[in-house]
Amino acid sequence: MKYLKNIPSTKEDLDRYEVDHLFHSWSYQPSASPPRVVSAKGVRFQTEDGRERLDFSSCFVSHNIGHQDPRVIKAIKEQADTLTSFAPTLSTKPRAMLSKLLADITPGDLSRSFISLGGTEANEAAVKICHQYTGRRKIICRYKSYHGGTATSMTLSAGDARNWAQVLGGAEVVRIPQPYCYRCSFGQKYPDCNMQCVKYVDEVIECEGGGSLVAGIIFEPVTGANGIIVPPPEYFPELRRVCDKWGVLMIADEVMSGFGRTGKWFAMDHWSVVPDIMTMAKGMTCGYLPLGATVVKTEIGDKFKERFFSHGATYAGHALGCATALSVIPIYQEDNLIENSEKMGDYLLERANELKEKHPCVGDVRGLGLFVGIELVKNKGTREPIMALDAKIKPAMNPKMAVAKKLMELGMMAMAANPGNVIAMAPPLIITKEEIDEGVSIMDKALEEADKFTS
Ligand SMILES: Cc1ncc(COP(=O)(O)O)c(C=O)c1O
Repeated sequence: MKYLKNIPSTKEDLDRYEVDHLFHSWSYQPSASPPRVVSAKGVRFQTEDGRERLDFSSCFVSHNIGHQDPRVIKAIKEQADTLTSFAPTLSTKPRAMLSKLLADITPGDLSRSFISLGGTEANEAAVKICHQYTGRRKIICRYKSYHGGTATSMTLSAGDARNWAQVLGGAEVVRIPQPYCYRCSFGQKYPDCNMQCVKYVDEVIECEGGGSLVAGIIFEPVTGANGIIVPPPEYFPELRRVCDKWGVLMIADEVMSGFGRTGKWFAMDHWSVVPDIMTMAKGMTCGYLPLGATVVKTEIGDKFKERFFSHGATYAGHALGCATALSVIPIYQEDNLIENSEKMGDYLLERANELKEKHPCVGDVRGLGLFVGIELVKNKGTREPIMALDAKIKPAMNPKMAVAKKLMELGMMAMAANPGNVIAMAPPLIITKEEIDEGVSIMDKALEEADKFTS
């Protein structure tokens, strides 16, 4: 106990702590420390061994404005000097201002926010609000979703192998397929499908007790970790009509897809559909500090003037986090990052399609804005997946992890540690054409690892 202020910290010490004293997320615990990041700037990060690499994942799609922006660091320092946090029963200036800013940038009359510490918490709050507002039990979620790591959010993360080891609960869920046109669950081909996937939702709601039991439906507008699934343009407008018919609330989880990632402020803006509840995190503070928010329509928010809002947290509306969001969000506008996401996203998609032409392992390429996925297959003709759904939770190296390892060797990090067969490219929104070329040429070489698994 003598050295509490002097913990040994040589490289070997730190490597040992990583192996002996930490839980690493969603993985077998490593026998050696992962590379240690010492600094980052813009679209690049440096590791202890002196190497610099390109961040083509924006750290799980959060660092949208790039690393270490001095404007944000300055704002954090100023707020830290004034007030780091206070009990959420009283007001703070950053929290009040952020609630107004969120009401301004979100679509329609989304106007009242519960401010939490991340995406998982934002979704927990959304489900609670949905239950409390409607007085109904059931929540519809979609297979191939990720909504967070706690009990309720994991329960909603259907078909993601990460939830198989968990005792589920917190919500009574009904699971439906994604509008995943490359592998349509209804055996249809867009656009001749008559939007069977939405018709099915209507049928499911009816069979599950309709407007008396079904409270809401939660979805990622563009599915992230489970495969960059972009819905056809009719999907959300038609889903809105079905939900309105039954009074079922739409909960848009914009944790990954929000804040310019898809080339609009929020992905739902592409289809001009206003959800009843929207959740967000990641790009709201870009990882400079943790923060999440659940934003609801005025009508829903107002209901809680008459009834008790049964949710909360010590750090809800954390002042330092809110001040960070207040400095990050205007940067999207000042630096035209949303326009850049659209423009560079088109370019990245074009370049990724060249990889599809070239590599036998690339079955599909899809995306919206700077959110582009490469789906790996064993065989392009049959579309046989390159690995099984449970590969993520199996100890053996799988083709996608082989690509991820090669990318790191060559000098780049993409989003490949997620389940399924899709490697996502989601660089910070400040990316230039030259940096995209650099990233695509690294990806080109790394995909040769997956080509070895094709037949
Ligand atoms: C769509 C979506 N929802 C929720 C979450 C959970 O967010 P967090 O990791 O901030 O708790 C994530 C995280 O990747 C996500 O992608």
